[in-house]
Amino acid sequence: MIKENPYQASRPINDSKDFFGRKREFRFLYQMLMSNESVNIIGPRRIGKTSFLNVLPGNDIQQNFFGESIFNEKDIFLFLDMQSQKSTTPTELLTRLAEQIHATGIDINHEMQSYYDFGRVLERLTHEGIRIFILLDEFDSVAQNDHFDIEFYDMLRHYQQRYRVSYIVASTKGVKEVSKSTVTSSEFFGIFRVLHLELLQEEDASDLICKDDLLSQHMNFVKLIAGYHPFFISQLCFYLFHFHLYEADTPIEKIREMSIYHFLEEAFDHFSYYWEHLSTEERAVLKKISKSKKIDQDDAPELTALKQKALIIERNGRHMVFSSAFDGFVEEIKFSEKKEEISQFLAKNTKTLVSIAKYCIDKAIELKK
Ligand SMILES: Nc1ncnc2c1ncn2[C@@H]1O[C@H](COP(=O)(O)OP(=O)(O)O)[C@@H](O)[C@H]1O
Ligand SMILES: [Mg+2]
Repeated sequence: MIKENPYQASRPINDSKDFFGRKREFRFLYQMLMSNESVNIIGPRRIGKTSFLNVLPGNDIQQNFFGESIFNEKDIFLFLDMQSQKSTTPTELLTRLAEQIHATGIDINHEMQSYYDFGRVLERLTHEGIRIFILLDEFDSVAQNDHFDIEFYDMLRHYQQRYRVSYIVASTKGVKEVSKSTVTSSEFFGIFRVLHLELLQEEDASDLICKDDLLSQHMNFVKLIAGYHPFFISQLCFYLFHFHLYEADTPIEKIREMSIYHFLEEAFDHFSYYWEHLSTEERAVLKKISKSKKIDQDDAPELTALKQKALIIERNGRHMVFSSAFDGFVEEIKFSEKKEEISQFLAKNTKTLVSIAKYCIDKAIELKK
């Protein structure tokens, strides 16, 4: 019989039993929502934003992390992935939202013809003591939608001011930064509290790694290679688990080596993406950290940015690259500002991959000493 692999990283977490950590972040969020604020959740790709949005309405999460329920049974959560709304018009978007309200069993006409129509719906819900939480994921995508003009954003703000509406918006940079400069004068962009999602806390990373007991023997190894990053941990653990199950006679060192190769092959694209989206100054500071060179006081802004991008951690006052696999990548990649040079580097993929794998394996051996 095929045993299910408990580590998956291809789709966001939907079930709170698969969700690890984020206690502090939930406490902040719930506190903000209790006072009807709107929140911008900022974090790099794959850090767990969608998963966070998916589980936040759950009563078990509220109880575990906050000690009480934040939401009433009547409260409504509306969820839109803005990636799928790149050419939607404002009334179409409001119709999508109204359809979800309708689906909860509230009898409304969900064809929205105007901003006013949606206002009427919100008025009714507010009157009935229902709070509405509008979760907008992948907000970076709206920058590409020309239908969303200033009037649209002003109306979103109007709903929030007038009715019991809170927005919880996920993006890789601040909402204002990812939007078109033609709309950012709307006051909508000024209503948000900010919550950063960064790496996991160490003990939560440990819990995720040990989701299946079989992998507890690899805990330090996984932390070394993947850092406290939930996505990279899940990817690496997937392979370790797989090889333990299907190549049970293989020595542990060999299992680790095979897993590293598989892991790196997939992680490489993500590493490249992260690198490509760094400023020249951020790259320079990252290179310094990788080589354990001294950090200047002037580097403080880059350190903050790199931390928020989940690429470095601070331990005992020292900055370190978050994972030794990414550290190996940073060592290998030539410092270059030109896009062509990066793509050339990527073309030589296999050779680089092998040397990063060697680097990781050496580090893992050091770890055991
Ligand atoms: N708190 C978490 N607990 C367990 N796994 C997580 C957690 N956060 C993220 N992951 C893992 O990382 C992957 C990427 O998460 P996702 O929510 O899609 O990130 P984002 O929306 O920021 O790109 C998920 O598929 C999941 O495997
Ligand atoms: Mg996402």
